[in-house]
Amino acid sequence: MRKVNLVFGTVYGNAQFVAQTVQEQLVATGREANLMTPETLSGFVPPEDELLLIVTSTTGQGDIPDDLNLWFETLRGDAPYLPKLEYGVIALGDSSYETFCNAGVRFDELFTELGATRIGELLKIDACETMEPEVDAKEWLSEWTKLIASNPID
Ligand SMILES: Cc1cc2nc3c(=O)[nH]c(=O)nc-3n(C[C@H](O)[C@H](O)[C@H](O)COP(=O)(O)O)c2cc1C
Repeated sequence: MRKVNLVFGTVYGNAQFVAQTVQEQLVATGREANLMTPETLSGFVPPEDELLLIVTSTTGQGDIPDDLNLWFETLRGDAPYLPKLEYGVIALGDSSYETFCNAGVRFDELFTELGATRIGELLKIDACETMEPEVDAKEWLSEWTKLIASNPID
């Protein structure tokens, strides 16, 4: 089974908690899951034979949290070509903002530009709808793990 590299961006800790919950669920299903703290992301180019899962909230007016933005900008600048990479996105936001979950959308657009393929829907978790984003994330993750496992290379 391919390893999952988990990357998170947070301001108040919700996305980090979701990422930790996701890691635990992945490990419980026997899959290796590497939870990367933002300060370890410098120079990290997601290996194409592993999976990438981005968990990010949105801040400001549709902005990526500071802790993750540097990595985003570096990848955008370096533009590595990653045609074999498969990834997923869990976006936390608040639908009272016009820029609902925009940080997740921007990551999705970036990795599509880099040639990678998103697996499953981009999950948007609305803080107006739930106080427990990890519950939605766990439900989504069960589907996501089925999809990734259906690839013969997994
Ligand atoms: C100052 C501020 C700005 C925000 N801007 C946005 C936004 O532009 N779009 C959005 O969808 N959510 C926005 N949110 C909502 C957060 O993304 C949401 O509450 C999320 O659950 C926070 O997760 P975190 O604790 O990981 O940062 C904003 C929240 C705050 C406090």
